[in-house]
Parts: sequence; structure tokens; C-alpha cells
Amino acid sequence: MIVDTDQLLEVAWQGASAAGQLIQESWQKPKSIEYKGAIDLVTSVDRESERIIIAAIQHYFPDHSIVGEEETIVHGADQECRWIVDPLDGTTNFAHGYPQFCISIAFENRGIVMLGLVYDPVHQECFKAVRDGGARLNGATIHVSPLAQLDGALLGTGFPYDRRDFADLYLSYFKAFMVRSQGVRRGGSAALDLCYVASGRLDGFWEMKLKPWDVAAGALIVTEAGGVLSDFSGNAFSIYGQETLASNGLIQREMVEIASAVARETRVD
Ligand code: IPD
Ligand code: CA
Ligand code: CA
Repeated sequence: MIVDTDQLLEVAWQGASAAGQLIQESWQKPKSIEYKGAIDLVTSVDRESERIIIAAIQHYFPDHSIVGEEETIVHGADQECRWIVDPLDGTTNFAHGYPQFCISIAFENRGIVMLGLVYDPVHQECFKAVRDGGARLNGATIHVSPLAQLDGALLGTGFPYDRRDFADLYLSYFKAFMVRSQGVRRGGSAALDLCYVASGRLDGFWEMKLKPWDVAAGALIVTEAGGVLSDFSGNAFSIYGQETLASNGLIQREMVEIASAVARETRVD
């Protein structure tokens, strides 16, 4: 089917702004929390945000397929058009009232992400990109940083929810990047981390085991802002892969060299 990206963006924004209002109203209030794993939590707001976004999509595109982190799987009549939704990325921050979280919505056509929208309701920042159409923050064009050397770079990262079992592995990467860059930040929302690379606030980002809903929108926003993504070995990036390495492009090679060296040192044969 032919997709009208303006209409898709409008629907994504309708869902994100309505869900964003709920998140904005609730982030400083007591939360109802459940645990999916030892440290992997979910709040009633995650679930309600997903419900709001899915309802907006289904109202306008009842045939589309949808996958949402909080258990939504819609096998629509149209299998070529698929929405990928994280209704609250940075839920640990949200649960603690730490203002760094967002909504992430991407639209995929025949397996290619065509648009991404990431909305931070506390700071009222809406990052969005349409494939081949550039990336924007609240309507203004954004671009990755011009920094050419890792030595002066500010990097972002995050740790997967199995970090209690693989702490040494994740810390090996952290140490290697910490000593080669100017600083490392652990923001707690991978989708926002990617948008921060896209807007030049961070020069690079790495994380393992992210899910498609964490990265689908942010990865397109990075590439449309002139940045680059790969896996830790420098191979093509996939939103379904295990490794995310994003940067302004200029420091990508240095980051891949470091990540590859850590992988060699930590390999268990
Ligand atoms: C998490 C955040 C976090 C990252 C985790 C993700 P969630 O998503 O993006 O920054 O380190 O790996 O799972 O659970 O808050 O939606
Ligand atoms: Ca997430
Ligand atoms: Ca989430």
C-alpha cells in the first residue's frame, strides 16, 4: 500500500500527545508498580499509555499490524504496515520520579522503518523523522555533532535488565569507553539517548540487548540527522539485533574498535 507519511505522523502525534498528557500528570504521583523480573518493572501508566496509543492507531488504521512492549500484538489484515510502540521508555526513571523518559512510536513498511517519533512529555520535546526527510526537534531541523575524536566525546549507554547476572561484561564495555572518552552518561531511556545523539547532545551511544520498540524510532532519527548505526563489530545495524552502536559517524570507527576489542577480551569459548 502507498503510505501517506504526513497522516502517519499526525496519528503518531495524536497518540503520543494524549499518552504524554497522562504521563505528565502522573510522574510525580505515587505509582502502582508490578515486576516483570527481578528489576524489570511496569506501572499502570505504561499499560494505559499503550492503550491510548493503540486506540489512536486503530481508529485511523484498523488494518495495520502493531507490536507494543506491554503485550500488544495485532496481526492486522495489512501485514506490510506495522507500528512499533514503547509506551514509556525509561520506566524505572518514571517510577522514581526522575524526569528522563519518553514515548517511542515507529512505523515500519515491508520491514523498513519509515518514520519515528519520540516524545518527552516533561521537557515537551518531540523528536521525529521521516525516511529521507531529515530529523526534527519541535519542528527545527537537527543534526549530529561535528566532533571528530572519541577523546573529546560525551557518550551515552544503558544496561540491560539481566545486569545482575552479566555485570562484569557490561562494565568491561563501560570501563573501555570511560577511559577513552570525555564522559559517559547513563540516562535510563535508550530512545531518548538516541535522540540526544541525533541532536548533538551526545556524540555516541552503545547498549546491548535493546528491543525493537526501544530503538526503531530513535535509530531512524539518528540516521536522518546525519548519524550512523552499526553493531559492535561495525556490521549493519538491525532493530532486531543484539547490539546498538550509534554515533555522529565521525567517531564510529573508534567506537567499533573499542567494542570489538572488549568482545575479544571477554569472549567465553
Ligand atoms: C529500558 C530503557 C533503558 C535501557 C533498557 C531498556 P524500558 O526500556 O530504554 O534505558 O537501558 O535496556 O529496556 O524498560 O524503560 O521501556
Ligand atoms: Ca524501552
Ligand atoms: Ca517501556
